[in-house]
Amino acid sequence: HESQTDPAKLAAARAAVALVQNGMKLGLGTGSTASIMVRELAARVRAEGLSLRCAATSRATCELAESLGLSVESLDEIGWLDMTIDGADEVDPDLHLIKGGGGAHLREKIVAAASRRMVVIADPGKVVEQLGAFPLPVEVVRFGFEITRALIRRALQDLDLGDCDVLHRLRGSDPWVTDEGNWIVDLHLGCIPDPVALARSLAVIPGVVEHGLFLGMCHLAIIGKPDGTVVRLD
Ligand code: A5P
Repeated sequence: HESQTDPAKLAAARAAVALVQNGMKLGLGTGSTASIMVRELAARVRAEGLSLRCAATSRATCELAESLGLSVESLDEIGWLDMTIDGADEVDPDLHLIKGGGGAHLREKIVAAASRRMVVIADPGKVVEQLGAFPLPVEVVRFGFEITRALIRRALQDLDLGDCDVLHRLRGSDPWVTDEGNWIVDLHLGCIPDPVALARSLAVIPGVVEHGLFLGMCHLAIIGKPDGTVVRLD
């Protein structure tokens, strides 16, 4: 796989997998960077005979990990985790994140919250001064979808985030359905001057299950570079 693998993502993934120690309880992230990490992890487990317990942040990651011989258990079977390694869509200087481009942010946030450390792996394109150029994913229940969408719009107006698009995420012509059976809207904000205020406003809307702002959850971001070196932000 390595010949087709993005070298920056691979460098970040390898550096994160190097932090794994025998006996650890690990959370496995979702997305293209996390998939590279799962492959690297499986290779280390095979080479060194490590014994790990892993929980996955999505069905896709669970299937990938199992196909590579890693044993995956449910989060509740394992309980608290030592470390989660996951990708991100944006990382700011405070290590605040936007996640959910792959639609997995609900399970990702639950797994991150269960972890003593969350390590983010990313390529340089994910590092931003201010969050918001990447559309913010929000998982919402299907019941009363349009009401929830209107309440999200109103919350954005109250925060002076203006008339931004709140787009229903589709797969082809059908709604995109999450692993938990919900729908997703993507908020095209452009910039998020106050992520804490936005997170608070979204979280109190009844039909919102979870938004993709991860604030104060990431302990270390490993940014891979195309030359194979990494920069650590903590
Ligand atoms: C999945 O829902 C996201 O949170 C991913 O972690 C994010 O989209 C990063 O994916 P890539 O590594 O593919 O960019």
